Amino acid sequence: MNKADFNVPDLIIKKRNGESLSSAEMDYFVKEVVNDGVQECQLGAMLMAIYLKDLTDEETVCLTKNMMHSGELLGPWPAEWKGKVVDKHSTGGVGDKVSLILAPALAACGMKVPMISGRGLAHTGGTLDKLEAIPGLSVSASTEEMTRWLTEVGCCIVGQTANLVPADKRMYAVRDVTGTIDHFGLIAGSIISKKAAEQLDVLVLDIKFGIGAFMKEKRRAKALAEKMVTIGKGLGMKTSALITQMDNPLGRMIGNALEVAESVQCLHGNGPSDLEDIVLKLGAQLLFQSGNVDSTEKGEADLKKTLNNGEAVKKFQEMIINQGVDPNTAKALCAKGADMWKILPKSKFTTTIKSPKSGFVHGIQALTCADCSLNLGAGRHASTDPINHAVGLELCVSIGDKTSEGEGLVIVHHDSKEMPSGMSEKLVGAFDIQPSPPKSIPTSRVADVVS
Ligand code: URA
Repeated sequence: MNKADFNVPDLIIKKRNGESLSSAEMDYFVKEVVNDGVQECQLGAMLMAIYLKDLTDEETVCLTKNMMHSGELLGPWPAEWKGKVVDKHSTGGVGDKVSLILAPALAACGMKVPMISGRGLAHTGGTLDKLEAIPGLSVSASTEEMTRWLTEVGCCIVGQTANLVPADKRMYAVRDVTGTIDHFGLIAGSIISKKAAEQLDVLVLDIKFGIGAFMKEKRRAKALAEKMVTIGKGLGMKTSALITQMDNPLGRMIGNALEVAESVQCLHGNGPSDLEDIVLKLGAQLLFQSGNVDSTEKGEADLKKTLNNGEAVKKFQEMIINQGVDPNTAKALCAKGADMWKILPKSKFTTTIKSPKSGFVHGIQALTCADCSLNLGAGRHASTDPINHAVGLELCVSIGDKTSEGEGLVIVHHDSKEMPSGMSEKLVGAFDIQPSPPKSIPTSRVADVVS
């Protein structure tokens, strides 16, 4: 069939009537999206038809493949890297700085990680914003630079190149204003097409559920994970997903520079246990699925070794130097026991919020923490807003900890002399403090694995 065999209104009607689009029809439609052959209103109508009538897995794979090929691809990677090109995608959570630790730790295990990340919006912090808290760091790179960095170091964390999956850029912008964001097939298409354009061998997904996550219920997170794993495999990538709990913030730091500092600590093997556990479990999936280790236990042990023996932090140091940081600055940030605040931007003021009563910490509301961090200036309300890298929250307690009346619960790092009005009360309310200890404290946030 050729272009003349189809037209956009017929395809919209077909989908509206609940029929499946053929591979040739999907191919035609996505090409027209990129070539401006689909009007804005037609794209909105098609996305709504998809939202209401759904896509089969076959259609979703086809849509995703066409989206992937709508622009340039990274690579081709050298043949000797076969099986070693890996990446992770997270649906986003509060205090989620996993990428900053995982990419260098995997590089230290011999993997190649061409990580393409995003910026934060509303409650979700963005990996690129966090990295940019490091003076001099740039997140833009050409494919040639990425190939060189992967050859020399093994990892980089950069923003999307201008022509990577242009179909998604157009579709996402229309989804955003037509009530069609939260469709599993469209989410899978959007995320998997971008990861497939990295020409990965293996992908792991961190699908979060809970108060601080996009998906509140575990059941829904698992359903999305299953859809994304199916589509990832359909595009030829070994894909698996961890379903992880996001009721309370991950680690103890929320805010850009604060999260970099915690990541460097974790890269030295001194990170909070919940953060390190997720890093090890996601990385172990990649090492196992790629056939580089015989079990996920061995993968975790290999990764843990790189955190303890200095190899992971060395990779991080090399990665940030490649990405524009002055070598002496990188060395000073990454040296064991370094005072990272000589390098990272520090807020002008700190205020400690104290516990109103004695007891045990049962919960820390992730969404409230994210909201406060956002209002301090660590995040952006609109995509064009500037952000403040220095501000954020430093939790003084974790789930299960004993606290006494008057002891610190959280340190607020702020740049205006006065904290935003009502924030102190709001933060106190984020802590669920009970007279007796919680019955059980999960040792891992990983609730399920889909592979
Ligand atoms: N992130 C994306 O890139 N696309 C989606 O559809 C949702 C989250």
